[in-house]
Amino acid sequence: MSTPSTPRPIEISPSVLTADYSRLGEVCVELENAGADLIHWDVMDGNFVPNLSFGAEVIASIRPLLTIPFEAHLMVTEPTWILDAMVNAGCSTVMVHQEACLHLHRTLGRIRELGATPAVVINPATPLESIIEVLDLVDLVLIMSVNPGFGGQSYIASVESKMRRLREIISDRGLDIDIEIDGGIAPPTIAAAASAGANRFVVGSAMFRDPQGFEHATAELRSLASAATI
Ligand code: DX5
Ligand code: ZN
Repeated sequence: MSTPSTPRPIEISPSVLTADYSRLGEVCVELENAGADLIHWDVMDGNFVPNLSFGAEVIASIRPLLTIPFEAHLMVTEPTWILDAMVNAGCSTVMVHQEACLHLHRTLGRIRELGATPAVVINPATPLESIIEVLDLVDLVLIMSVNPGFGGQSYIASVESKMRRLREIISDRGLDIDIEIDGGIAPPTIAAAASAGANRFVVGSAMFRDPQGFEHATAELRSLASAATI
């Protein structure tokens, strides 16, 4: 882990939500070989968001094929019931939405108890103030730059001011917290997100639509983010 004074590492975390599910394991291996830092699993319950995706069994079946860490982005209403399964499936970071947890403090504490890294997520419309009281419980904050539920949506640039304020709060309080951004991250948007304070980047459709492939997409995005990081 870096200290608050050192620049935080740039990390590219591909979301496999828009992958070809008939060859999901192979795609994850290809992403690791292309230089991805993590795999981002968008777990959707059809209630918090109007879509369904994969559960713990799918993630667990792919875990032995790779060595890079897995992070679980839980778009699940009241996700307490699924935390153990996600950690047992091999997700070392578990991310829960502020909007989905009635007892957010308890839920984040439970993730830590299970031995995983707790992270809190906020939607574009959710104010930063709603997570101020839990910043001491998390190692990562995920800022949504689309409304969750689907890949391939347009980046909402107005969340950048929220990231700037968050980075200031983290620095003022001397906290050790990464800022991740999720939604619409692609070559035209990643630099602005990096200069606003993000150091981990979820990349879904931009990874899969690069005609030059995963390695090119990963390297290009990493280099654009590094150049823009202050
Ligand atoms: C949206 C998901 C994202 C999304 C990213 O609900 O959390 O991870 O799939 O996909 P792109 O990069 O296409 O916006
Ligand atoms: Zn996500």
